[in-house]
Amino acid sequence: MSTISIPVTKTTQSKLSETDFSSLVFGKSISDHMFVADYQNGAWGDFRIVPYGPMEIYPGNATLHYGQAIFEGMKAYKNEKGEVLVFRAEANAKRLNESAARMCMPQLPESVFLEALKQLLSLDRDWVPQGKGSSLYIRPFMFAMDNYLGVKASDSYRFMIFTSPVGAYYSKPVSVKVETTYTRACEGGTGEAKAAGNYAASLYPALQAQKEGYDQLLWTDGKTHSQIEESGTMNVMFKIKGNLITAPTHGGTILKGITRNSVLQLAKDWGQAVEERFLAVTELEEALKNGSLEEAFGVGTAATIAFINKINVNGKDYLLPEPKPDAFSTRVLSTLDSIKYGEVQDPHQWILTI
Ligand code: COI
Repeated sequence: MSTISIPVTKTTQSKLSETDFSSLVFGKSISDHMFVADYQNGAWGDFRIVPYGPMEIYPGNATLHYGQAIFEGMKAYKNEKGEVLVFRAEANAKRLNESAARMCMPQLPESVFLEALKQLLSLDRDWVPQGKGSSLYIRPFMFAMDNYLGVKASDSYRFMIFTSPVGAYYSKPVSVKVETTYTRACEGGTGEAKAAGNYAASLYPALQAQKEGYDQLLWTDGKTHSQIEESGTMNVMFKIKGNLITAPTHGGTILKGITRNSVLQLAKDWGQAVEERFLAVTELEEALKNGSLEEAFGVGTAATIAFINKINVNGKDYLLPEPKPDAFSTRVLSTLDSIKYGEVQDPHQWILTI
C-alpha cells in the first residue's frame, strides 16, 4: 500500500511536561498534534499534521446550524515494550463511513484514516500512557465546512483526528434509570449513526436523571418505551438465567458498537449463550424482582465495561450485587484488557501495532 504524504508542522511548545499522567480526567488533556484533511470539489486533500490548536470557521458554517457532524472513539495502549497498540482501528474507519453515508457526508478512504492515525500516533507516541487503566483516547471526526445558510448537504467537509490521554471513564459502578418519556432514537432516525446530534439530544434527559441521583439512563424504544435499547452513550448487556442478552442492531436505532461486537465475539469463543434480541422492560423488572438478573453492564469504547449496580424501573430502585471475579462481565473486561495491552495473543487480529 502506498503511503499518503502528510506534511508535519511540529509544535514548538509541547504540553507533555505539564500534563499530570497520574491523575488523568477523561477528555481534559489533549496531545500536542492533530491531523487535518479537507474535502473540496469532490475529493479529500490538503492532508496535514499540525499543532493542536484553535481553527477558524465562518459563523455561517453549516455544522453550527444544521449539525452535519459525526465522530468516532477509539483507544491506543502501550505494552511493556513501549509499543503503541491500537484497538480495532479498521472497524472504526468503516463505521465512520457508515455514519457519513447516513448523514449525507462523503466517504473517507480507509487508507487515509489508517495512515493518518499511524503517523499522528507515531509523532505523539509519548502521549500514550503506560499502565493498566490508562490509554490514549482517539477522536476522529468529520463535519460540514460550507459557509452557507441554505438547508442542504454541505459541499465541503473537514476530517480531523486528535487524541487525549485518559484514565478510567467511570471510577465506580453506575446507577441507571429506565427512561420512558424521552427517546434517544427512533426507527428511520439517526440512532445507528455516530452523529453529534444524537448526543446533543440525550443531554437533557440524562441531566434529569442525574438530578434524581442516577448516573445514566437506560434508553427504551421511541414508539412504545417497552424495550431496552442502550444505556447512556453505550450499548447495554444483561445476563439473565445464564443467557447474555443485548439489543440487535439491524433496526437502525442502535449504535453498532465495536466494544459490543468484541464482547459478543469473546462470548461466542467461550461458548457463552447469547440472545441478540430486545429485552422488554417488564422482563427486566421481573428478572430484578425474582433475582434472575445476574449481571447488567454498559459496553463502549470510553468505559469498556461499565458495571451497573442500580436500576430504577417504574419508580422503584433495584440493587445489583457486585460482579464476582468469575462473572462474565469481569472476565470479558479482563480479557479485553489483556488483548489491548498486548499481554496475550490477539486471536482476532484486533490490534494495530504502531
Ligand atoms: C463510547 O464509549 O463509545 C463513546 O462514544 C463515549 C463518548 C461519547 C465519550
